Amino acid sequence: MKVETRACLEAWLRYSDDLRLTPLYRDRATSARGGDETPPMPPQKPVAAVANVLGKAALPPVLPVVVAPSLFDAVERVEGDSLERIREDIGDCTRCRLHRSRSKIVFGVGNPKAELVFVGEGPGHDEDVQGIPFVGRAGQLLTQIIEAMGLKRDDVYICNVVKCRPPENRTPEKDEIATCSPFLIRQLATIQPKVIVCLGNVAAQTLLGTHKGISHLRGQWFDYRGTRLIATYHTAYLLRNPNAKGEVWKDMQKVMAVLGLTPPTRKRL
Ligand code: URA
Repeated sequence: MKVETRACLEAWLRYSDDLRLTPLYRDRATSARGGDETPPMPPQKPVAAVANVLGKAALPPVLPVVVAPSLFDAVERVEGDSLERIREDIGDCTRCRLHRSRSKIVFGVGNPKAELVFVGEGPGHDEDVQGIPFVGRAGQLLTQIIEAMGLKRDDVYICNVVKCRPPENRTPEKDEIATCSPFLIRQLATIQPKVIVCLGNVAAQTLLGTHKGISHLRGQWFDYRGTRLIATYHTAYLLRNPNAKGEVWKDMQKVMAVLGLTPPTRKRL
């Protein structure tokens, strides 16, 4: 099959798959023209059929995201941006009220070229003291999850929506999120991961521009500016509701499938 014909066919198959036009696939086995060396294929389910034509496993579909323009339009693309530059731009930040009670700015940690980024809500007490995200009890559970996926903390990147601890660990306010999230957006644009995992409501709602709750959002693939994004329960929620660990593990298995990871051995979270 000619390269252009193949590309055209692939595009049509993707498109019809998006539209769930299964009859197209059922007919395809018999539609091979004379001179076409592609062997006839038996009837298949649509996703498998596309995977077969493409010669690779089909990735799960993503849901488009319509993000409130105000948040992302405010973030200018910074030419040649880097994590160091973003950290410098944050400086000794006093842009919002959170600076008054913080000890340390918690910027983010991990592999600057990570394929996988975890985004939390904001630092807690231990993070505020150490200046490192997810080092308290919720953080230790996140580390266990990362290791159960066959990775190390150093393989991934971990950061938060707000970089300063909200007093008494309260949920960050809308204006605090609006002030700080441009730095998160720049971090994500710089790292360019394959997958973003949002931990909890604040991260998911901020990046997806929605008010829907995490129990509605979790476990589904979204398209965040061309990057696959999935939301799951926050590990702090898991500490209070250990029964939800199974659902988080299901979500992480989806992430592992997309990243081509196999866990070393099944560990209990
Ligand atoms: N919870 C978060 O959302 N982030 C942290 O860094 C720690 C706890």
